Amino acid sequence: MHITFVVGARPNFMKVAPILKAAKQARIESLLLHTGQHYDQKMSTLFFNQLGLPRPDIYLGVGSGTHAVQTAKVMTAFDEVLEGLSTDVVLVVGDVNSTLACALVAVKRNILVAHVEAGLRSGDRTMPEEINRIVTDQISDFLFTTERTADENLVKEGIPKERVFFVGNVMIDTLLEHRESASKTGMVEALGLTKGDYAVCTLHRPSNVDTRESAENTVRALEILLAQMPVILPIHPRTNAKLTEFGLIERITENPNLKMVEPLGYLEFMCLMDNAKVVFTDSGGIQEETTVLGTPCLTFRENTERPITITEGTNQLIGLDPNRLQEALDRLSGGAHKEVKAPEYWDGRASERIVDVLLHHARG
Ligand code: UD1
Repeated sequence: MHITFVVGARPNFMKVAPILKAAKQARIESLLLHTGQHYDQKMSTLFFNQLGLPRPDIYLGVGSGTHAVQTAKVMTAFDEVLEGLSTDVVLVVGDVNSTLACALVAVKRNILVAHVEAGLRSGDRTMPEEINRIVTDQISDFLFTTERTADENLVKEGIPKERVFFVGNVMIDTLLEHRESASKTGMVEALGLTKGDYAVCTLHRPSNVDTRESAENTVRALEILLAQMPVILPIHPRTNAKLTEFGLIERITENPNLKMVEPLGYLEFMCLMDNAKVVFTDSGGIQEETTVLGTPCLTFRENTERPITITEGTNQLIGLDPNRLQEALDRLSGGAHKEVKAPEYWDGRASERIVDVLLHHARG
């Protein structure tokens, strides 16, 4: 069997790394293709090095653009690759534009599509990732899920049960493999922080930074957090560009409690999350990682596609009202956070389960 593994953007790298490794151990032939949706050293290359990912066999170099341009560029370039390639399965992960684009090209060429992290739904169709999830799931042959609610979502959308496989969370495979090396990076001390006494913050959703109004609201929330404790903010290029454009960046950089840094490597970031008092974010994956690390997570969004991080993990949805952040912080300082147990199958073996399924059902 031959599998083509697709990566495009930062959150893809930690998901593909363990599956590629498990496939190699099972002697499956593989090819790693990077679309180039993310291309900066800090958004891409660094992750390859830290996660032990091999150099991509094929790099499409599509870069940034509007959704239509980026998706179309990936589709055109990937179609040319598949023209000259004999592969049985195209495996895509997550919900970024590269995920959707490559799935669509593969299915039209009658190649089996495997989608890892299928079935997650925020219910918010204004979120670009939600459209990517819905469409990718509809055209996939193998839908690998991380939580039981995802299976239910897929069945509700008419996906035949036989295509759905609950396997657990590959991102947690990576986290468990690297947690110890992460602790050795010494990032907390290097940044002059004290363990258990600072917040980690990541904010980059278009809905939180792309308009002046939403960016101001985000800055207000950040100021509430900064009034309570030191905050480390590895700033996403999108957020940096938008806050600068709206003249808001100085409002936070001038605050002595803020440590703003460029996007961090996987290990350094994991180390900071593991030792933080709280994580404040609008990311999807971070809600899952904090659940396993046991670090309280306050999510600056109205909805989540990962409900298990609330029911079983450390995550709280605080919506977009900065005052609710203040309330959540008050509750936290009252020691109100709960005991955690890792959700079912978030055990470091999800990738093995995926490879087993593919070996049994998708032989070329
Ligand atoms: C993408 C994903 C999002 C994911 C996020 C993680 C989609 C629809 N969105 O959003 O789900 O949470 O990645 O980071 O696929 N840029 C750089 N260097 C890079 C990459 C991007 O400077 O290496 C800048 C460019 O100005 C670009 C902007 O960041 O226009 C946004 O990048 P893009 O890939 O369009 O979306 P993200 O916001 O990163």
